[in-house]
Amino acid sequence: MRFLMRALLWIVLSVMLAFPAAADDGSVGAADPRATTGGAQTLEDIMARQRGDKVDDADRRANTGQGNVEALIGQLGTRGAASDADVFRALRYGSADTTTTARGPTTGLLIQDGGMRWLTFREGPLLTYGLYFLGGMALIIALFYAFRGKIMIDGPKTGRMIIRFDAFERFCHWVMGVSFILLGISGLVLIAGRKFMIPWMGHDAYSSIAQAGKWAHNNMSWAFMLSLIFVFILWVKHNIPDRGDIQWMAKAGGLFSKGVHPPAKKFNAGQKIIFWSVIVLGVSISVSGLALLFPFEISMFAKTFKIINMTGLPQLISGAALPEALTPYGEMQLAQLWHGIVAFVFIGIILAHIYLGSVGMEGAIETMGTGEVDEQWAKEHHSLWYEEEIAKAKTPTAETAEQATPAE
Ligand code: HEM
Repeated sequence: MRFLMRALLWIVLSVMLAFPAAADDGSVGAADPRATTGGAQTLEDIMARQRGDKVDDADRRANTGQGNVEALIGQLGTRGAASDADVFRALRYGSADTTTTARGPTTGLLIQDGGMRWLTFREGPLLTYGLYFLGGMALIIALFYAFRGKIMIDGPKTGRMIIRFDAFERFCHWVMGVSFILLGISGLVLIAGRKFMIPWMGHDAYSSIAQAGKWAHNNMSWAFMLSLIFVFILWVKHNIPDRGDIQWMAKAGGLFSKGVHPPAKKFNAGQKIIFWSVIVLGVSISVSGLALLFPFEISMFAKTFKIINMTGLPQLISGAALPEALTPYGEMQLAQLWHGIVAFVFIGIILAHIYLGSVGMEGAIETMGTGEVDEQWAKEHHSLWYEEEIAKAKTPTAETAEQATPAE
């Protein structure tokens, strides 16, 4: 878990630091007068910006309108002092007077360089490494199945059944499960469409699929968020880490060796990891999803970066702090990228969960189907929980005690 958290933090920081464009901070390097262009940007500057590389724009940034703000204000007037290049520089670096009658969070921002880098990151590393990660997870699961096979119930089944999850627990789990799978599929269709689906099926066919996918994605999110809250309330008390988890982890839960069954309560340490991953990633994907559903209403990255900067970690890792001032577009671009990164990690983890909860382990799917398991399954996989349940069943309740007391 610690390794997972560290790896996640590392990925996050690397992405944020590699993505300064969203901050619109304008990278400042050694001054280059660009003598051949009279100080204007060169073709190489433009190409570099489109590739997402840092461009030394210190000179131009310092020369928006040659300091003559008046000249820019009077753009459409008769004075005509500013050139087009002056105007575009002023627009790019935010010093032009863009007062309009239109009202909205983004009306003052006409050019944002970060958009290009967001686009190339989304279509490039995010999609490529995301798909590699999912492929890697599928491969690991296939190898696990090939070497370990299905985890069977070792002892003889007793035929006596024990209730593991009640109907409401199963309902909440399946609302979450089904909505997650639909969200995952429609999300992948949206992010991979341009690169993989359009070349294969054409724009028209993809357009219908993308529209349906977008509708499903936007609306299913509510079912997912609601079920996430219920699942948290229902199972949090069974997922508090305890000392038994260390023992379970030391034996890797017996996952790699037949006949090994370390004791576990209702949820073992592996399941607790799944539970907390679902909660943490679920909350993160929900908040970033809400930021995308309601554009420019939820701005969380600048504030989060401020807090992260206070730890000194980004400065230690890269020598630079994370940007603490972001444009509304910058916030949206980061929300989209973060949503995508979390989604890939989340889907990878859930692939492993689905495997173990279905074909990977004998008797597992019944716990979420009928809600009942054979006592032998319970004894092998959750012995401490099994003992508790048996003890509960033997302890007379107020009702049964009353029935057992002979009437006077
Ligand atoms: C076809 C899809 C799925 C199958 C077959 C499946 C199966 C199961 C089963 C059998 C259990 C109970 C295990 C036990 O009795 O100890 C379980 C628990 C759980 N499931 Fe799923 N599940 C699926 C999808 C999902 C999804 C998409 C999520 C979340 C996004 C999820 C989250 C959980 C959580 C948090 C638990 C409790 C912790 C755990 O047992 O790992 N499940 N699932």
